[in-house]
Amino acid sequence: MKDIIVIASGKGGTGKSTAAVGLGTSLTQFGNRVLLIDCDSGMRGLDIMLGVTQNLVFDIADAVSGSCTVENTVYPCPDKKGLFLMPAPLNAYDEVAPQILGQLVGGVSDIFDYVIIDSPAGVGSGFEAAAFPAKRALVVVNTEPTSIRGGQNVASKLRNCGIGDIRLIINRFNKNTFHKMALYQDLDEIIDITALQLIGIVPEDYSLAAALQAGKNSESRSPAMRAFLNIAKRIEGTLVPLMIH
Ligand SMILES: Nc1ncnc2c1ncn2[C@@H]1O[C@H](COP(=O)(O)OP(=O)(O)OP(=O)(O)O)[C@@H](O)[C@H]1O
Ligand SMILES: [Mg+2]
Repeated sequence: MKDIIVIASGKGGTGKSTAAVGLGTSLTQFGNRVLLIDCDSGMRGLDIMLGVTQNLVFDIADAVSGSCTVENTVYPCPDKKGLFLMPAPLNAYDEVAPQILGQLVGGVSDIFDYVIIDSPAGVGSGFEAAAFPAKRALVVVNTEPTSIRGGQNVASKLRNCGIGDIRLIINRFNKNTFHKMALYQDLDEIIDITALQLIGIVPEDYSLAAALQAGKNSESRSPAMRAFLNIAKRIEGTLVPLMIH
């Protein structure tokens, strides 16, 4: 196992699940076996984005209750060699406790290179479970003050959970909107406010959004997928220059 990564944000809808799929898919391109764990109990969505909904029989809650083995909850993603999904419980009241998720991740650590845990929004019990097994965190923000405050809050909670390696993804970056809104002078200002090390800027890209909502593969050369590939390279330890627009 190379790494266990939680993707968090504080504020909802910043692009955590999109980042989980984009990054997971990109990491497989270097020969990695990647498990995506959907931790958004009652609001799961990665199965739709990965096009595996029709195949789902068991989810994390079934493994916890003993209705199936942990392996039974791991689904290969069609057309995405090396990418696997462990779906979140369908019902919110089946939310998994932090230690239990830690045990589940421990149980599959031999067979995957990366585990990426998609956290629900906020800093509640679902977030705490998602963060518990993680060694590293990616905080996803958009270029808006409410989202950035959420990023600051979640980063502070991640530190309290003992995660020291926390990187920032600025998602849905649109140069024109950014300058028109004039909320910040430049992206450096956002990076300074969060006090997090930037790992990538992902452009607004409706081709990726549309592909994922349809459960299809995105064009690997789409702007957002190129950004996720660069983030994957940085996670793999390759030096790729950051481009701050
Ligand atoms: N780079 C992007 N360009 C365009 N649309 C995007 C981008 N990233 C995410 N989106 C869109 O933003 C919406 C929210 O994305 P997503 O579901 O990944 O966020 P989330 O943080 O996981 O949300 P939640 O907090 O509800 O779990 C979706 O409609 C998605 O398609
Ligand atoms: Mg999500």
